[in-house]
This record gives sequence, C-alpha cells and structure tokens, in this order.
Amino acid sequence: AKTHRHSFVVKLRPITRLCSSKNILTVNGKFPGPTLEARTGDRIIVRVINKSKYNITFHWHGVKQVRNPWYDGPEYVTQCPILPGKKFTYKVQLTNEEGTIWWHAHSGWARATVHGPLIIYPAPPSTYPFPKPHAQIPFVIGEWWKKDVMEIPDNAKRSGGEPILSDAYTINGQPGYFYPCSKKGTFELTVERGKTYLLRMINAVMDEDLFFAIAKHEMTLVGKDGIYMKQIKTNYIMITPGQSMDLLITANQAPGTYFMATRSYSSAFGAGFDNTTATAILKYSTKSSIPSFHFFPTLPPYDRTEASTDFTKQFRSLTINGRRADVPLKIDTRLLFTLSVNLLNCSTKKPCAGAFGKRFAASVNNVSFVAPSLSLLQAYYYKVPGVFTRDFPKNPTRKFNYTAEVIPEALMSTSFGTRVMVLEYNASVELVLQGTNVVASDNHPVHLHGYSFYVVGWGFGNFDPKTDTKRYNLVDPPEETTVGVPKNGWVAIRFKANNPGMWLMHCHLERHQVWGMSMVFLVKNGHARDQKIVRPPHDLPKCYH
Ligand code: C2O
Ligand code: CU
Repeated sequence: AKTHRHSFVVKLRPITRLCSSKNILTVNGKFPGPTLEARTGDRIIVRVINKSKYNITFHWHGVKQVRNPWYDGPEYVTQCPILPGKKFTYKVQLTNEEGTIWWHAHSGWARATVHGPLIIYPAPPSTYPFPKPHAQIPFVIGEWWKKDVMEIPDNAKRSGGEPILSDAYTINGQPGYFYPCSKKGTFELTVERGKTYLLRMINAVMDEDLFFAIAKHEMTLVGKDGIYMKQIKTNYIMITPGQSMDLLITANQAPGTYFMATRSYSSAFGAGFDNTTATAILKYSTKSSIPSFHFFPTLPPYDRTEASTDFTKQFRSLTINGRRADVPLKIDTRLLFTLSVNLLNCSTKKPCAGAFGKRFAASVNNVSFVAPSLSLLQAYYYKVPGVFTRDFPKNPTRKFNYTAEVIPEALMSTSFGTRVMVLEYNASVELVLQGTNVVASDNHPVHLHGYSFYVVGWGFGNFDPKTDTKRYNLVDPPEETTVGVPKNGWVAIRFKANNPGMWLMHCHLERHQVWGMSMVFLVKNGHARDQKIVRPPHDLPKCYH
C-alpha cells in the first residue's frame, strides 16, 4: 500500500459564474476542489492550512476510518474546527472502499463550495468487476449561489426560516448551456465511437435529490458510495446529496452531440426547490453526418417519487455463490428512528420568520441535535462530564400514524439536546428509519459515518414489524453509506457495530441538518487491543482558546 500526500490551502478566491464574480471558499483556489486518487488500502495524508476567515473541518465521505474517528471531521462531533490561520493534518486510512467517493467540508455550510472527488482504484492483482473503461471522468454536480452561502446557516437558525436556494446547478463547476453567460464554459466530454467510459458521479448539492440522464445513451450503474454492486442498466438515475455513483456509458450512437442533463427530484410538496436544469455535452470525436445537432434527454417529472423508487429498488449487492455472507442475521439491538420536520412556536427570545409565523426544526426520534462547544469524541475520551447524555431514545417517544395525511398540531414540536445512542462493540444492529409527515414529508438521504450498512428492506407508509420483516432481502441487499428514506416511507438497515468511536448520522439535506436532523452513535471499545479507538493526534484542534 502507498501513502499519498496532499496539501489543502483553504482560501477565498474570486470566481465568475452567471455573469458576475464573487469570492467563494475554495481548496487550493479550485471549484470544485482537487480530485484525490488512491488504491484500495492506501493511506492519504492531507495537510490543511486554513488561510480563510472561516472555521473549517474535512470529512472523507464513505471512508470508514476504522478505529480512528479522530480524522472523520464533523465539527463538534469528532473534532473542534480548524480556526482561521491554523493547521491540521488528516490521515485517511482506506480499508475496503473502492470506486468513487468524495471529500467535503463538514463545518457550517462550507461544503457548498469546498468538496471534491476521492477516487479509489483496485489494488493489483485485483481489477474492476467489469471490463476496464477506455477513460474515467470525475463528474461533480454542485451549485452556484449569487448570495454568500456562508451566511445561510446562521440566518436559517436565527429566523427558523427556509435556507435560500442556489441560483444554478453546476456540472464540474459549470452551470452549462441554458444559464446566462454559461454556454461557453459548458463541460464537454469527447468520446470515441465504440469505446466505454466510466462516469464518476457525485451529488454535492446541499438540498436537492437529482435526476440525471444522457440523450439516447443507456447507462450501467456498477457502483455506489465506494462499493461495487450488481450492474443495473438504466435510462435515468436518481442520486441524493451525499451519494456517489459509478456509471458506464458506451458511445454506441450516431456520431453527434448529445446533452447530459440534471435537475431536481423534489418530493416535498410545497417546499421551494431549484427547478433549473444543468447540462454538459457528450460529443463524438468522429465527424458527424448531422452537423452539430443537439439531442436532449428525457428526465422524469420533478415530483415523481415512483421514478425515484423504481430506480433505487433495483439495487443489489455483488454476491459470491449467489449470496452476501456478511449480512447480519441475528439481531442484538433493534432501533426505530423517526425523521421529522417540526414547527415551533416563536418566543420573544427566538423570534422567527418560518412558515405560518413559526420556526422550523427537524429531528430524529423527536430530538433535535444540539452541537456542544467541545467535541463529543474528546469529551468521551477525556471523560469530560456534562457535554452529552447517553439517553438517545431507541424508539419514537410517541407512537402515532407517522405518515397520515394530517398530523395533529400537538405533534409538531420537538425537544433539543445532545444525546447519544450507545452501542456495544460488535452488536448486530437493525435500524428502521421511518419518514414522517409531521410538517412536510420528504425523501431524506441519511448518511452514517464510520460504516457501510445493508439496506434489507424498504416500503411506503408506516413500518410494520410483523409483516415487513418477512419481506426482507437477507440474500443480496445493497450495501451503502447514504440511503434515501422514501417520502412517507421507511428503510431498514443492518450493520455490525465493529468500529468504535463517535459516529454522526444525519440527513444529507443541509436544510434538515441545520434544523437538527442529526444524531450520534457512541460505539464502545471492544476488549482486545485492536478493538479500541487509537490515541488522538497531537495537533488536534483545541476547543478553548
Ligand atoms: Cu457527507 Cu456527515 O457527511
Ligand atoms: Cu431530510
């Protein structure tokens, strides 16, 4: 295994999009940020120098960081932020991750512009589980804001209102053909007829699930979240924030120019969403018989939940002898977590600008996560009392019809706290994530740090332990790190708690995360030496100054 060294200088830099120039937070002046490459099992060392006026931390989304939560990155969970003018070196140890994942800032809304691909190749003699593609292309879908994105979370928290929307989606930093002043910069992929290409796609946008399609070209999904999967042939995909996908495309059409396009899948009725379309161009190098003719793809309507689930329900693991041997079958810990958007009354202390003169919040099992001022991991490791409690509820605090058309107003409130859920080392965990219709139902892309998990079941409506567990797929369920919990539905995931540490789990829709849709698992150390958290690094940012 190799060690790769990088330096990330975090700084503001003026970048021009949509006809005007603006200072945005970048890594090494790039938007999107630099692509990191490694092989399975390698080590990546990233020296961060914060030359900006903002706090920063980095998360390696999809890397398990086995026994080493210190470098996982979410601020106030595993570390305190790297302050302006300070440095910190991340050591990212890869284990079995392979394919496309990504890195992003995990402090405030910095990830809006501070993110980039992390590509993990097979380590020889191992090879891809598909024919080697002719070329591979990082394909980062992001956003562009005319306003200062760094001010969004404070505004949203202060007012309890909806965070503002972006002004454009971007593909590899470019809004593309149909936005003002953007035609020339449109990202172009030039292909040779008959060759196959690997698109390494990342949904780095803050708040929207996306549909994506290429005119007249079928795609083959071969991997997701840095895990290869059973191949799926498809004309469109749905990708949630946080997810990454490995897609093969073969240039098998008449030479010409074809659009690739992406726009929202917005399942929340009534919620504002960016309904613009970002494009890139697929262009055959061979001279076209039909000169510069543009074909445009068909995307599902923005609110078509069936189109989303028709795609995701096909996901399956790669199997050995027809099955996946490591799916937990005997369960030690059963959990049911509700995901809710809440609406709170305003007070004189907290005036608000949310809908109906109230303020929004969001919660897991009716607890809205409150970040402490010392990191949870440090508080745990150094036994600092009073930072968190170990009483996160295993089940919803109140039972009701979670997905009913109308939910009584009395259920719209939530509690606030820094409560963690303790898991015994090596416990087999089943967690059902139940979407609710408390204020508005939505597809919640839930990401678990430190782990990958099997999605053994999903459905619409309320989870029913009697009937739904009988329909579980325990043979070849998909293995993921970010799963979309369908609108007014549920998913059941299983994992073995074999990675000790403090691990954040949250909705990857930033507006829900900022309102509190996060929680933390404390996975205890095991007894053996190699079952314990390693020692903290010397240069870990301090929390008090
Ligand atoms: Cu993509 Cu908590 O992160
Ligand atoms: Cu959500």
